[in-house]
Amino acid sequence: MDLVEGSELFQAQSHLYKYMSSCTISMCLKCAVELGIPDIIHNHGRPIALPDLVTALEIHPSKTRFVYRLMSLLVHSGFFAATLPLDTNQEQGDHQKEEEAAYDLTPSSRLLLKDKLPCLSPFVLALLDPCLITPCLFMGKWFKGDRGTTPFESAHGMQFWEYADHNPAYNSLFNEAMACDSEMLNLVIKDCKPVFQGLGSLVDVGGGTGKFARIITETFPQLKCTVLDRPHVVANLPDTQNLKFIAGDMFQSIPSADALLLKLTLHSYSDEECLKILKKCREAIPSDGGKVIVIDIVINKNEDEHEVTETKLLIDVMRMSVATGRERSQRDWEKLFLGSGFSRYNIAPIFGLKSLIEVFP
Ligand SMILES: C[S@@+](CC[C@H](N)C(=O)[O-])C[C@H]1O[C@@H](n2cnc3c(N)ncnc32)[C@H](O)[C@@H]1O
Repeated sequence: MDLVEGSELFQAQSHLYKYMSSCTISMCLKCAVELGIPDIIHNHGRPIALPDLVTALEIHPSKTRFVYRLMSLLVHSGFFAATLPLDTNQEQGDHQKEEEAAYDLTPSSRLLLKDKLPCLSPFVLALLDPCLITPCLFMGKWFKGDRGTTPFESAHGMQFWEYADHNPAYNSLFNEAMACDSEMLNLVIKDCKPVFQGLGSLVDVGGGTGKFARIITETFPQLKCTVLDRPHVVANLPDTQNLKFIAGDMFQSIPSADALLLKLTLHSYSDEECLKILKKCREAIPSDGGKVIVIDIVINKNEDEHEVTETKLLIDVMRMSVATGRERSQRDWEKLFLGSGFSRYNIAPIFGLKSLIEVFP
């Protein structure tokens, strides 16, 4: 074997080892959220030294070395920043210098602060809950024809929404996670005025606990909003003057309105199921002036950066392990819209990974 061939082999091994172990990053991120590390750093008011972090975590000092290792990976992955103290003695070894580092927040960990909006900590906890991780371990068996329409069903013996109905604690965590995702849209909703202008009524189909509908009614007070969701999600949620909740099944019936909203709802369902939902939507809006507003991922390999496409593909396979749905390209969306009786659509990629799609009869 020559040197070049050898170096290619070792590169290949390194590539393999990276992805073999990269789920560790997800788990360390979850651990940091569980320990409240972002809040500790934030409350410290300035970069926090390792011993101070260990004290604030209220863990035994013998764990200091392990906290250091956890933080080193999370710094390397961009969740925290390590700043060296100015008086670091240059004679000390690299290792010791690093141990003297102080840790700071980065834009990603700022999104995990419990007292600041938007806070995505519930999203981290809900998506990395064992009930969503376990199905990934069943994927091979599922491909080979194990029972279940999804790896989730192979793992848990029931579909995701049924599981949520049977597990109130997870149901609440999931609803909280979706609500905090909606909170992110608060930052841009005022830029979407033309989308909501002129509408008198809107139904948020699969609108969860109504976080996004609430944001919309606060920004556009002329709009009467209704949230349609499963009984376990909307039970006991109080109506307000322009926001009301309806327990129901979107496959059976969708209340009529000028516009319908489907945020991160269609990607949970297969094409056949989406066609059924969209046909119901078509019946529920006026042919003249009505519309459906879809907020979801659009895979666009030609235009998106490599990392954005990678994230969308990761979410797609995660979706495959949990539900019958998938992430879709523009062509896939178009087939669904035209196939369910709509005639045209506009896509605006305005929410980071998500796009806003207006669909017209
Ligand atoms: C991925 S969540 C999105 C929630 C919300 N749109 C958001 O983005 O925050 C999908 C929502 O659809 C609801 N859902 C699922 N199946 C439903 C059905 N058959 N009828 C009504 N709602 C349903 C779920 O309860 C959940 O709240």
